Amino acid sequence: MDLKGKVALITGGAQGIGRSIAKELALAGADLALADINLARVEETAAALSQETGRQVLSLKMDVSKFEDAEDGIKKTVDKYTRLDILVNNAGVTRDGLIMRMSDADWDLVMAINLKGTFNCTKAVTRVMLKQRSGRIVNIASVVGLMGNAGQANYSASKAGVIGLTKTSAKELASRGITVNAVAPGFIKTAMTDALSEEARGNLQRLIPLGRLGEAEDVARAVAFLASEEAAYITGQVLTVDGGMVM
Ligand SMILES: NC(=O)c1ccc[n+]([C@@H]2O[C@H](COP(=O)([O-])OP(=O)(O)OC[C@H]3O[C@@H](n4cnc5c(N)ncnc54)[C@H](O)[C@@H]3O)[C@@H](O)[C@H]2O)c1
Repeated sequence: MDLKGKVALITGGAQGIGRSIAKELALAGADLALADINLARVEETAAALSQETGRQVLSLKMDVSKFEDAEDGIKKTVDKYTRLDILVNNAGVTRDGLIMRMSDADWDLVMAINLKGTFNCTKAVTRVMLKQRSGRIVNIASVVGLMGNAGQANYSASKAGVIGLTKTSAKELASRGITVNAVAPGFIKTAMTDALSEEARGNLQRLIPLGRLGEAEDVARAVAFLASEEAAYITGQVLTVDGGMVM
C-alpha cells in the first residue's frame, strides 16, 4: 500500500488496535494525527511511532463522544498538514453485563463513545473531505455487531449501529469521491481481550476456524487496504477480520 502524501487521523490511537493501525498507515507513508482521551499515553505513542516510522505524528486529546473535541482535533490536523485524507474511527469501550443488570450509565457510555463518537468524527471530517472531493473513512465495528453476544447488549448494539452508519455515510458521500467502509474484528489480542479468563479464551478459540485469536496487525492491514487507492471501488462494506468466525 502506498499512502505517501496522505494524512490520516486515528481515534483511540494510543494503544491496541488503534496504535497498530497508525503504525501500518505510517509505514505506508502517511503522516498521522493520533487522537485519544488519554493524553499522556497518546503523546508517548506518537513519539514512539514517529521514531519507528520516520513520519510526522501529531497527538491530540480528544473525547470522541464530544462533537466540539472532534471538530477541534480535525481543525488542528488540517492546520498542521493542510489536508486530511483518511479517518479511522477506532475509539471504543466495553461495559459488559446481562441486560437485566445493565445500568443506564453503562448503556449510555458505550453508545456515546462507540456510536455517537463515530458519528461526531464523521460529521466533523465531512466538510474537509467534501472540499477535497476525496477521502477514506474506515469505521472499526466488531463481529458481535453482526452476530450478537450474550452480556454485550450495549456493545453489540453500538457496533451494529456503526455498521448502519457506515452504509448511510457511504451512500451520502459516494458522489464526492469519499468511501466509507467498516472493518469488523473478531477476537483480537489486546488489553480488551487480555481481561478474559483462560477458560473463556479457550472456548473462543474453538469457535475460530483458523484456530487462533487475531493480532492487532491483522486488523491494521485490512484498514490500510481500505484506506488505499487500491480500494477506490469499494464502499459501504463490512470486512470481517476474524479467522473465519462469521461466514
Ligand atoms: N480487541 C478486540 O478483540 C476487538 C474486537 C472487535 C472490535 N474491537 C474494536 O477495536 C477498537 C479498538 O479496540 P482495542 O482492543 O484496541 O481497545 P483498547 O482498549 O486497547 O484501546 C481503545 C483506545 O480508545 C481510547 N478511548 C476510549 N474512550 C475514548 C474516547 N471517549 N475518546 C477517544 N478515545 C477513547 C482508549 O484510551 C484506548 O487508547 C474498539 O472500537 C473496539 O471496540 C476490538
